[in-house]
Amino acid sequence: MRLNGDATPRNEQGKEIERGALQQQPKLVVGYALTSKKVKSFLQPNLEGLARKKGISFVPIDQSRPLSGQGPFDIVLHKLRGKNWQQNLEDYVEQHPEVTVLDPPEAIQHLCNRQSMLQDVADLDLSDWHGKVSVPKQVVIPKDPSSIPEAVSKAGLTLPLIAKPLIVDGTAKSHELFLAYDQFSLSLLEPPLVLQEFVNHGGVLFKVFIVGDAIKVVRRFSLPDVTKQDLSHSSGVFRFPRVSCSAASADDADLDPGVSELPPRALLERLVNELRWRLGLRLFNIDIIREHGTKDRYYVIDINYFPGYGKMPGYEHIFTEFLLGLVRGNYK
Ligand SMILES: Nc1ncnc2c1ncn2[C@@H]1O[C@H](COP(=O)(O)OP(=O)(O)O)[C@@H](O)[C@H]1O
Ligand SMILES: [Mg+2]
Repeated sequence: MRLNGDATPRNEQGKEIERGALQQQPKLVVGYALTSKKVKSFLQPNLEGLARKKGISFVPIDQSRPLSGQGPFDIVLHKLRGKNWQQNLEDYVEQHPEVTVLDPPEAIQHLCNRQSMLQDVADLDLSDWHGKVSVPKQVVIPKDPSSIPEAVSKAGLTLPLIAKPLIVDGTAKSHELFLAYDQFSLSLLEPPLVLQEFVNHGGVLFKVFIVGDAIKVVRRFSLPDVTKQDLSHSSGVFRFPRVSCSAASADDADLDPGVSELPPRALLERLVNELRWRLGLRLFNIDIIREHGTKDRYYVIDINYFPGYGKMPGYEHIFTEFLLGLVRGNYK
């Protein structure tokens, strides 16, 4: 953390202002390397305004130039892809251990594969802590689509299934999901894929945002339940649009409480604490669904790095406090 300027403070007429009358603001410089879409959704005027008041300034990073020649930064926020950028960032991390880089590139990498992404949840034993949390039963199809029917029956998966591209690389294609009513149609899809049991959840999903120690949950509309009748009358695979981005908030909707009631706070805190530590990340979100008709069967279906914080209520306060807390050493 730097202190603002060293010049003697002066008033508009150029007269010296008594020291102490002007409190020196700590100045925190946060460099950011984000896509233009992310900049628009994250760096909203209310965040920048509040940050300025608290002595935090956001400075854009030019990803085409070496990071070491830019700055100096106290904190670097990043979510970009590409080999050159990764190398640039890794060199910087090595040369500037004093700078907090959010988050470590290799920890983020872990979330780019839908199998490794959920592995830490699968390894957790959260079966009796204000509810049971697990991941839907799933199988990875690395290559050969003709192997699908056998792989599905071997893994004991129950229809319908959701097919998701194994690798999440930021492209629209990596978020192109399919719902399959029969396993034979799955051979039409292009591996590498994850095939996951579809869990009925009443059409509501819980998006859990994490910023350091802070946790906020919002409800979003999701895919409707698939009934036994739907299943017996349908076949084939159906593509569905990227629900998670476009889904409307379900926070104000008049919903059945059995569907809309938020997961217990104690369960979320335990889950997030475990994941923050296991994943080594401070900025991420978890998508959770609750099996329809149950009170406490939860499934984590997705984890993302640096999600759309613009949709997290009060994020400007939470984020600025988090950044200040980092330099105060609250999150060592
Ligand atoms: N196993 C599942 N059971 C029921 N619905 C699911 C399941 N997996 C995903 N979905 C639905 O599909 C949406 C997108 O899936 P997700 O795994 O979050 O992929 P993306 O990377 O595109 O966000 C979710 O928000 C949810 O509505
Ligand atoms: Mg998602």
